[in-house]
Amino acid sequence: MKKILVGVVALGSMTVAGVAMAGLPAATGVNGSLHDMTKVVTNADSMGRVCVFCHTPHNAQSNLGATSNAPLWNHDAGTAVYTPYQWVTPLNQQDAAGNTFQPQTGDEALQGPSRLCMTCHDGTIAVDQHGKAREQVGTTLMGAIGGGEGARADLGGDLTKTHPIGFDYVAIRTHRNAAAVVGDATGTEIVDPEQKFATAVDTTGTVGGTYNVVTRAGNKKIKDVLFQGNIMTCASCHEVHNKENAVQDNYSPNSLGLDTAKAPNYFLYAKETDSLICLSCHIK
Ligand code: HEC
Ligand code: HEC
Ligand code: HEC
Ligand code: HEC
Repeated sequence: MKKILVGVVALGSMTVAGVAMAGLPAATGVNGSLHDMTKVVTNADSMGRVCVFCHTPHNAQSNLGATSNAPLWNHDAGTAVYTPYQWVTPLNQQDAAGNTFQPQTGDEALQGPSRLCMTCHDGTIAVDQHGKAREQVGTTLMGAIGGGEGARADLGGDLTKTHPIGFDYVAIRTHRNAAAVVGDATGTEIVDPEQKFATAVDTTGTVGGTYNVVTRAGNKKIKDVLFQGNIMTCASCHEVHNKENAVQDNYSPNSLGLDTAKAPNYFLYAKETDSLICLSCHIK
């Protein structure tokens, strides 16, 4: 770890190290990952702490709202109001009884840990800001961080551009799977949350009209990553601590100038290869 920090400093006198292309190996822990602010921003914390940008043992934030799960949170929450996702698929908009699947309004869309992610990823609050114990004001906004891929992690406040979150996975699954059975006896749409994340697609012997056969040998079940067992959040796909996420297959250096060894791992619970992350929940 120490060695790596020295390397980053040696890159030059830039305030923000060129780390957007330097995601360290998946599943090796939060220290040294892109969620280690001391690695992303030079001299981020006077004591070199890592957890402090998100957690504190004392004097934590308590103003994140009733629907937010805030584990000893130590990052400014701000007062941003986000544009909620709007369902596009007709079957997702309402069930037969006319119930909608959206708590996609206001704070509800951000229930669970999602609001915590947005305290950095909406681009309005400095990532190197933290509270109380040896408080640090911090001035580096997400938009200022980025290498070959630019300020990709600055998601802004428009959630219509992000996979839907803040809805009940179990309820929509019941509805979608029942709806899919109409005209297709074997058809299902959404994976049972008791299932694990996908690790491989078996393409041998598939015939037209047959769904992908997916192997699920991971160690996380989908229900483990749903807030309170049913709500979809940012943390349903991403592992914030870089601990139980999948090791991505390297890809060749491309026009973005990425080094294969430093390809982003995205903190995902399943691989991008064959879109295994998507096939973890979607039967397609
Ligand atoms: C303290 C600020 C902070 C918080 C809170 C935070 N992130 Fe990040 N995140 C960052 C920074 C900084 C980066 C690196 C951005 C870059 O390199 O362009 C990053 C990168 C990422 C990446 C890209 C990783 C890669 O390998 O390319 C993902 C995915 C991500 N964060 C998801 C999340 C999720 C999900 C949450 C909430 C559960 C979250 N983050 C909370 C600061 C934060
Ligand atoms: C970039 C922000 C970030 C950093 C850095 C971070 N965490 Fe977290 N942590 C989170 C978020 C977000 C959650 C809630 C995640 C969820 O509910 O899925 C969380 C949850 C937790 C939890 C409760 C749930 C669990 O996983 O057990 C513990 C304990 C925890 N973090 C400890 C730590 C420690 C210790 C460190 C430093 C070594 C650390 N975290 C660093 C963002 C962070
Ligand atoms: C359905 C799964 C899913 C959900 C939910 C999700 N993401 Fe992602 N996210 C991904 C995938 C997959 C990628 C990798 C980029 C790609 O394949 O386009 C990614 C990439 C990212 C990146 C890196 C951006 C980039 O283009 O390099 C950040 C930052 C991020 N996610 C944060 C979040 C935050 C914050 C939330 C909640 C508001 C969230 N994600 C919700 C699947 C998800
Ligand atoms: C953790 C589970 C999970 C993962 C992982 C996941 N999704 Fe979803 N996604 C859902 C659920 C549940 C719905 C709502 C039901 C549906 O549309 O089938 C949904 C909805 C969608 C929709 C429809 C949105 C609308 O407006 O109707 C699209 C498109 C989509 N997902 C694409 C993706 C892609 C692409 C990936 C991989 C990058 C992905 N999903 C990964 C659970 C997931």
